[in-house]
Amino acid sequence: MESITSFSSQIHFNYLGYEALEYHLKSKNYSSIFILVDENTRVHCLPIFLASIGGGYSFEVIETESGELNKNITSCIKVWEALSEQGSDRQSLLINLGGGVITDLGGFVASTFRRGIDFINIPTTLLAMVDASVGGKTGVDLGMLKNQIGVINQPKMVLIIPKFLNTLEKRQLNSGFAEMLKHGLITSEPYWRVLKQVDSVDQLEEHIYDSIVIKNEIVRQDPNEQSLRKILNFGHTLGHAIESYFLENKERDSLLHGEAIAIGMIMEAFLSHQLTGLGINQLEDIKNTLLKHFEKVDFNDSDIHSIINLLKYDKKNSHGSVYFVLLKRIGDAQIDNRVPDDLLNQAFSYYKE
Ligand code: GLY
Repeated sequence: MESITSFSSQIHFNYLGYEALEYHLKSKNYSSIFILVDENTRVHCLPIFLASIGGGYSFEVIETESGELNKNITSCIKVWEALSEQGSDRQSLLINLGGGVITDLGGFVASTFRRGIDFINIPTTLLAMVDASVGGKTGVDLGMLKNQIGVINQPKMVLIIPKFLNTLEKRQLNSGFAEMLKHGLITSEPYWRVLKQVDSVDQLEEHIYDSIVIKNEIVRQDPNEQSLRKILNFGHTLGHAIESYFLENKERDSLLHGEAIAIGMIMEAFLSHQLTGLGINQLEDIKNTLLKHFEKVDFNDSDIHSIINLLKYDKKNSHGSVYFVLLKRIGDAQIDNRVPDDLLNQAFSYYKE
């Protein structure tokens, strides 16, 4: 697969990625190279990476705990301390080997350590390949509020090694599939139609490239999310609130990011039908397709009340209002839509019916 240019860096695939990384390490002559892993990627991905990278480099490994609940400033402090204790300086490099938690947290740690050291993302989950590792959003959660602390800073390189997907459970793959479906919904009806034909998440590898092209094109046009990039938040206004609520609520099983976003997309498609002209057939198509892959989740009145309250803290809010990305039709998104409160309750009813 051809490499994709992203700002001043590149997104490389498979063996070309290893070659490009070796070349980069040689030309930059870093004083030390750190690899950030979690307990899963240390076991399942690090050996594959170390066996595949040539050049005789030595790497220091730093481990952080997996999971969204650990994507916080406490984990950052531990990684900053490890970098400091292990003698890193401004010419050090941090390689983030993991899913979205690792690439978000590691990118933020690198961007702020000694006012910024280089970092490279090697995503190991589908979600991180098609979304988190590309575009330079880095950061951590603040309590139950997602991605409240962070900076936009581009990685020096992104390596996509689809072999890592073999280490994932179906549920994890599905979570990334939600973001791929979103890419179709917001920019490309043909891509949505292609993905609709996918029966099993094992068939997703061949479609990763197109998703990354879509995401990269959007962020290249609007890296700081002044306008166009906001379309990537389709499904995320409600989706993030749902994800945060389930994360915090000990009585409920937590949802993976993509699982929450799938629910958010159904509800925001309903809002699109009410407010921006999305046709009923397309609305039903979106709901049926998503429910084929994502089991329905039960919400009671108290859940709905709490989730709607959480919305007001969403980082996409501006001047005290909640703004939504809505669809005019599949493949055409519109940013900055205000939604009346009563429609939010109706969106939950539509999802439940
Ligand atoms: N994940 C959305 C973005 O990168 O803007």
